[in-house]
Amino acid sequence: MNTPLTKTKHIPFGDNKDAPWYGENILSVGQFSLDDLNFIFDIAHEMGVMVNSLGTFDLLKGKILANMFYEPSTRTMSCFTSAMERLGGSVIPIFAQQYSSERPEAALPDWVRTVEAYADVIVLRHPTIGSSKIAAQYAHKPVINAGEGETGEHPTQALLDIFSIREEMGQISGLNITIIGSLKNRAIRSLIRLLMLFHDITVTLISTSEQFFDEEFLQEVARVGTLILINKSVLDETILSFTDVLYVTQGTDIVVTPELLDLAKPKITILHPFPRGPELPMEIDSDPRAAYFRQMEYGLYVRMALLAMVLGKA
Ligand code: CP
Repeated sequence: MNTPLTKTKHIPFGDNKDAPWYGENILSVGQFSLDDLNFIFDIAHEMGVMVNSLGTFDLLKGKILANMFYEPSTRTMSCFTSAMERLGGSVIPIFAQQYSSERPEAALPDWVRTVEAYADVIVLRHPTIGSSKIAAQYAHKPVINAGEGETGEHPTQALLDIFSIREEMGQISGLNITIIGSLKNRAIRSLIRLLMLFHDITVTLISTSEQFFDEEFLQEVARVGTLILINKSVLDETILSFTDVLYVTQGTDIVVTPELLDLAKPKITILHPFPRGPELPMEIDSDPRAAYFRQMEYGLYVRMALLAMVLGKA
């Protein structure tokens, strides 16, 4: 008689179960300490060195990623695909939008339990806050939150944003960061939460009252108390004279023109999570301070680091 296959978690041959982050979920920026960020960023930096010298290598050969996207995504989905393939692994792409109306209370747990039969790690983008936590409750494999809910979390975007600042500016603490555009954006909330881990950071916010943070989030920032938030309505010469990082998002009437950048510091890093709108005209793309396409590359290295970590190869 055949012995039935059990559903217990097993450690595949060759996996180092004692590696930090092996088998862990990446659900929220709240799970990271400053030491964790340094650990991730050191690995991400090494990933960049490896990609630039080898292109692709076999660290995750034989591993399979299920890319489950219940919302449209171009950047995050293609970035995770590239990250897995550059590490020698392979990807099951699941465009799950058409299934989001299936009995919602069962659809996600059923999908998770289905794809984990085929894959070693699950990346999930979902329109509902808390979905990645539900997925992680059902999964026996690591789940990575690739953005959920309009005002939820986008931890991997925030990690790549901070890594971009570190690579461009050499440090995070002590910087003046100016954010313009809509703050009702999961990536911005996750970014602010990670910035709260550092010291002596001032964040100047230029947004409309309709697009501003809600009171609950502002109270969270005040409670932690490490970040100085300043509200302004225009991006003028004074603000640009002390800004080290200009983080631009959609939803602002301000246009970052070459003339405006003439007023900025010679060393300023301009970031944008993309897609861009009229706020970021293509005529500034050739300015060496425009770091948003390098930011895409940094995102690849961070997501490679995260995949290697949760699969025990970091
Ligand atoms: N920045 C970002 O999350 O883009 P996508 O929605 O295309 O993944």
